[in-house]
Amino acid sequence: MAYIHALRFSWLTSLYDPVVRWTTREATFKRRLVAEATVENGQRILDLGCGTGTLAILLKRAVPGTEVVGLDGDVKILDIARTKAEAVGVDIAFDEGMSFELPYPANSFDRVVSTLLFHHLTREAKHNTLAEVFRVLKPGGELHVGDWGMAQNGLMRGLFAIVQLLDGFETTADNVEGRLPEFFREAGFNDVRVSANYATALGTISLYAAVKPKS
Ligand SMILES: C[S@@+](CC[C@H](N)C(=O)[O-])C[C@H]1O[C@@H](n2cnc3c(N)ncnc32)[C@H](O)[C@@H]1O
Repeated sequence: MAYIHALRFSWLTSLYDPVVRWTTREATFKRRLVAEATVENGQRILDLGCGTGTLAILLKRAVPGTEVVGLDGDVKILDIARTKAEAVGVDIAFDEGMSFELPYPANSFDRVVSTLLFHHLTREAKHNTLAEVFRVLKPGGELHVGDWGMAQNGLMRGLFAIVQLLDGFETTADNVEGRLPEFFREAGFNDVRVSANYATALGTISLYAAVKPKS
């Protein structure tokens, strides 16, 4: 299965933070996702496809009494994440691993959060990743995702072609066609909702939430 790096090619990874900051309204949508995750001290949170660690750091700084774990398949980007966390003095474990084969026991996280990962995954990998997220979440635990969503209008659809040219058409199609909520339901999640849509320079970014049933 092809692995898509943060900016498609490994040699572009060092440019990732400025590119995302200026093209995706990153601070706005990530802050809102952190607020929606309603994280509490003592909880264990997994940031799936954590990249350079921006979301994991935001979460840990918002609620310092949490245990935050970031997972990514790219060792180079994990080094950037570790350096960033160290620079701001927060303790986050960054693990190398694949989203569809999580190295964690069942029922071990209160929240799984993930931004801009799902559009990197084939449909099969999306389903397998959601099965893994469902497994590692505790009953009643929540999944909060921020990723490219159904285009709100023709302009957003047109701009999203830039993302598709960079990241590929196959992995991004389900996002822009609005299929992620259906995939969450198929994985067993309840209370699936799209809580916000953001018009950005590269298309619509949507926030999604879903809950693992208590029994
Ligand atoms: C576009 S970046 C998003 C990074 C970060 N979450 C953010 O919001 O800035 C996608 C990240 O997912 C990682 N990734 C892609 N496929 C993955 C997989 N199957 N398992 C784990 N990480 C993966 C890439 O290495 C990259 O860091």
